[in-house]
Amino acid sequence: MKLWGGRFQKETDELVNDFNASIHFDQRLYKEDITGSMAHAKMLGACGIISGEDTEAIVKGLEEILADIEAGKVEFSVDNEDIHMNVESLLTARIGQAGKRLHTARSRNDQVALDFRMYVRTQIGVIIDQLLTLETVLCRQAAKYQTAVMPGYTHLQRAQPISFAQHLMAYGAMFKRDVQRLEDCAARLNECPLGCGALAGTTYPIDRFMTAQALGFDGPMGNSLDGVSDRDYALEFLSALSILMMHLSRFSEEVILWCSWEFKFIELDDAYATGSSIMPQKKNPDVAELVRGKTGRVYGDLMGLLTVMKGLPLAYNKDMQEDKEPVFDAVDTVEMCLPVFAAMLDTMTVRTDNMRAAAGKGFINATDCADYLTKKGMPFRDAYTVTGHLVALCTAQGKTLEELSLPELQSVSTLFDKDVYEALKLENCMALRSSFGGPAVAETTRQIEALEAFIQSRK
Ligand code: ARG
Repeated sequence: MKLWGGRFQKETDELVNDFNASIHFDQRLYKEDITGSMAHAKMLGACGIISGEDTEAIVKGLEEILADIEAGKVEFSVDNEDIHMNVESLLTARIGQAGKRLHTARSRNDQVALDFRMYVRTQIGVIIDQLLTLETVLCRQAAKYQTAVMPGYTHLQRAQPISFAQHLMAYGAMFKRDVQRLEDCAARLNECPLGCGALAGTTYPIDRFMTAQALGFDGPMGNSLDGVSDRDYALEFLSALSILMMHLSRFSEEVILWCSWEFKFIELDDAYATGSSIMPQKKNPDVAELVRGKTGRVYGDLMGLLTVMKGLPLAYNKDMQEDKEPVFDAVDTVEMCLPVFAAMLDTMTVRTDNMRAAAGKGFINATDCADYLTKKGMPFRDAYTVTGHLVALCTAQGKTLEELSLPELQSVSTLFDKDVYEALKLENCMALRSSFGGPAVAETTRQIEALEAFIQSRK
């Protein structure tokens, strides 16, 4: 008979039994479930709601069940529907009467809310660690390429000179905010729903502050309906993961471009690239493409749960059992993507020669040419127009700006002098962009050091 079978005259139809069950996926929550039950039992004992003997028997029984599950000795049963009832049934089978007292002053509604919050909290820690490893790789690579000039792009058109370090540190800044978003989520979710009961609290003299503290929460949730009803922490988590995947996906897109023969800015290590079954010459950036592709899954997980939640009246509805799989899927996806992506970047070869060659074409020093004239007294808008004429001249002659002779330059403005050639050198153009946050070496050094300090502060 079911744990809840008292008022039923018939067995559950087999189709319903399978349909209703969540044990095949929520068994992942076994540890959170057992930890939560131990804290609950100790609190019931401390408040005199169950006896000291029963408390001890429950805690010891749960410890043994935990060890057996981790040793792979436990088989869960679909007849017990979910992880909560599986654990409770196992306990009662092992310790008898005392096991039946565990669920006093508790409902599966606050139990599942508790387990899921604790699960998300733990995974946030795992993902933050992985992000910090990725950040470490970015700092290490950036430190090597602070003077490596590459074209910076807008509209995927060569725009202005930057360094490879500057480009990498842009992602470093994004992943730092991803860490902070996850930290914010962890801080906000850290209120304990245990003791909210089915929805309306309980008549027993429980101590919610005690269980909250024992389970590492800042305190109990202040409204029992809210405690069992909302999944906003899971949605916030999925939002943060979606944004993180969006960053990884943009980065992947650039890795894919950079690996192409059209760019050849980087080459992936053989261990992080794949071949083609028909084209012998191919070396494909599959890792980056899969990360880009898997971003769609995580967005789907977020949209799925948002849609599950949007029409639900308070408090618990069975629809909410659908909260777990999207979160598990997003966790699995992100936790798979981050380490392989970091390792791919760690082992890539950077073709600074090709970056420099690409930077040499496309007039990415045109702004610097206009700035040169502006610094000699011409209003910027006029300098902009004059430089535009020069670019047209160069395009007609197949030249770069620095290949124009001084008389050619002076034909459009007498402000040009010999020192213009220094001003047009890409290395100088980059080095002089020393405004706060710019690509000059002093600034990329500052960025790298700041990010390293952030990583340290989180260790
Ligand atoms: N397996 C359920 C879930 O994941 C646990 C809560 C069930 N509560 C209930 N009243 N049926 O949501």
